[in-house]
Amino acid sequence: MGNNQPIGILDSGVGGLTVVKEVFRQLPHEEIIYFGDSARLPYGPRPAEEIKQFTHEIVHFLLDYHVKMIVIACNTATAVALETVKKEVDIPVIGVIRPGSVAAIKNTKTGKIGVIGTDGTIKSGAYEKSLTKINPKLKIESQACPTLVPLVEEGNHSEEEIRKIVLDALKPIKKFDMDALILGCTHYPIISEYIQEVVGPHVKLLSSAEETAREMSTVLHYQCLLADNANIPSHHFFTSGNKKQFKQIAESWLGKHINVEQVDITAAKSISK
Ligand code: DGL
Repeated sequence: MGNNQPIGILDSGVGGLTVVKEVFRQLPHEEIIYFGDSARLPYGPRPAEEIKQFTHEIVHFLLDYHVKMIVIACNTATAVALETVKKEVDIPVIGVIRPGSVAAIKNTKTGKIGVIGTDGTIKSGAYEKSLTKINPKLKIESQACPTLVPLVEEGNHSEEEIRKIVLDALKPIKKFDMDALILGCTHYPIISEYIQEVVGPHVKLLSSAEETAREMSTVLHYQCLLADNANIPSHHFFTSGNKKQFKQIAESWLGKHINVEQVDITAAKSISK
């Protein structure tokens, strides 16, 4: 018999939807409860302790829905809070940095890998640690791109504006002779076509979404937690920010109609305590 409890997925905003899209594809029987903390975005420049606190609040919000697994679909939160959350809860918790590193290692031929992410992720050195743990000989160049998350989250820029912002953001890393570039922020796949234009077709763009869904599938399988819902389950999307803006970006990215509820996460936390 399957386990049809939902899976909780969180991000600072719409970025984690890049993981959700892949979960829909690879694990169509799983029900998702998603929380995007758009009201407190960006997480990137915030101190680690604050990100840990926000993540803790969202994890407890998700636990109230009796989730069977938690996916921290945010690189910044994974970098600083994954280990703490793992100790705090007794269900499987998955982050996105290890899966992103695995994807890059599978795809590089030259061993020269670029990493772009938020200030928090890049400063943490989490990708370097994770990549060199698998292969210490890799050459890695990392760069923070703080302008890209607001660009995705606002969702109202013209193509020309997007092109210019992406080009400016990637100027330094473009000089690095890499054959793989890790999109080390879950927001970036949403603008991957523009990133690809700037770095050129010889650089393979890797996001953690596909590998994360694969890792989820493996863990669910080994722990006998895979769902066996006969029908496609209905999912629940929550945001702490602007519901209309979240819904618009989410529906365009996921290619389907969704229901979104706005939640005051601080109040939700006090209700759940
Ligand atoms: N999407 C998040 C990440 O993967 C963070 C964006 C932010 O809030 O700065 O890092």
